[in-house]
Amino acid sequence: MNNKYLFINTIGCQMNVYDSEQIAKVLKPLRYRETSFPEMANLIIVNTCTIREKAEQKVFSFLGRLAGLKRKRPDLIIGVGGCVAQQEGGKILERAPHVDLVFGTNAIGRLPVIIERIETKKCRIVDVEMSEQIEELDFGADESHDGKVASFVTVMQGCDNYCTYCVVPYVRGRETSRDPERIVNEIRCLVESGVREVTLLGQNVNSYGKKEGLCTFPELLALINEIDGLLRIRFTTSHPKDLSEDLMLAFKDLDKLCNHIHLPVQSGSNNILKRMNRKYTRELYLEKVDKLLNICPDIAITSDIIVGFPGETRDDFEETLDLIKKMEYDSLFAFKYSDRPNATAARFPDKISELEKKERLQQVLDLQDHFTTRKNKEQEGSTQLILVEGFSKKQSVIDIQNRYQDVQWTGRTSTNKIVNFIQGDDTVFCNEIATGQMLNVEIVKAFPHSLWGKPVGVEPTSLGLRGEESYVA
Ligand code: 5AD
Ligand code: SF4
Repeated sequence: MNNKYLFINTIGCQMNVYDSEQIAKVLKPLRYRETSFPEMANLIIVNTCTIREKAEQKVFSFLGRLAGLKRKRPDLIIGVGGCVAQQEGGKILERAPHVDLVFGTNAIGRLPVIIERIETKKCRIVDVEMSEQIEELDFGADESHDGKVASFVTVMQGCDNYCTYCVVPYVRGRETSRDPERIVNEIRCLVESGVREVTLLGQNVNSYGKKEGLCTFPELLALINEIDGLLRIRFTTSHPKDLSEDLMLAFKDLDKLCNHIHLPVQSGSNNILKRMNRKYTRELYLEKVDKLLNICPDIAITSDIIVGFPGETRDDFEETLDLIKKMEYDSLFAFKYSDRPNATAARFPDKISELEKKERLQQVLDLQDHFTTRKNKEQEGSTQLILVEGFSKKQSVIDIQNRYQDVQWTGRTSTNKIVNFIQGDDTVFCNEIATGQMLNVEIVKAFPHSLWGKPVGVEPTSLGLRGEESYVA
């Protein structure tokens, strides 16, 4: 029987990237194969995000563009999954009459049955039932992992923190951790399929296993560190209030754990942190960072900042700028505050104007640019160990066919900095560069958001070596 084609548009966070991969895997037995062209798809799924207003707007503008396609091909099935689906449920069918299916964050395992029913009965379905039980989907090793070397793995779902600006606890449910054995098995299968780096996902990985009495997060990391063939481990996100000394020590002790932590501070003002219900002060945050830097002096630290939270005064904002100056983050994601449905802060009265939010955002971005550029510049002349992830996205197929020597490759340092490079014909190991390899690269030039490097040697004993073990050439 012929294959059918599936196009998935993933909007928003890494959690959604993982969910989209799971969606593609559960639909394989129905003969759905992924395509990058919506025009040739029999099934289009939009995996949605509602964390910020902007992500939600993207969903409806994409759905709008699909209306014409559905008119031309009425057999096309259009599904909306993820957080917006969970939040809006059947209202999406009213707003977008060409949508056939709305499914929530817990319905991925039921998709094959749902899709088969739509195919045969031509009906419209809404399935947004929530569950505190994690839905375990076992796939085994998957040869068609598209040669990807890096993969996400969810270790916990949901969140119990109720930061006042955040919609996650309402759409992703209560915090629930996965069984460590299942996580380890999933990673083993990924490694068998060619994956060399995993990023463990959870809204607050530091509280992994606490509620269920499983092992701690550092213990889970130690188990994963033992997996043969896996080269690198990353994780996100860490809540500063729960950052433990054991986790700090894991960066020193576990050879596969990358030298980077994402530690979202959100604001530098104690007044705002309290109103955000973050449960730490700027002093505690800085104290923890100090401790971490004592243990791991060259760890890269990145963060999230929200500007224009309700009631944020000019002084509060200055404190955020001051904290950014003290922290000198490697990079920073900054967002304008937006009201989210159900989140407590949506009911706070003293909202900041759009114009003011825009100006504050620009100030944060300008300030951070200075540090990102400086940090990247500091890498020039050093040699970094990178994991080769494949051809750089900018590379066209024609370029690759015609000028193999000049093909642009891409990889990342342990500190999560992107390094692009060409194989070149002056390298002694000309034909050896391959995806999934650990490669020593001399950093020749720093750009604002990436580095340019020159390969200087394949790392023969790369298994488990740490990227920050670099030297100045
Ligand atoms: N408005 C703006 N930014 C938000 N974030 C979460 N909720 C909101 C909101 N309502 C940001 C936080 C979080 C990141 C994933 O998204 O900075 O860390
Ligand atoms: Fe949202 Fe706070 Fe939970 Fe992060 S920790 S998901 S910001 S409620």
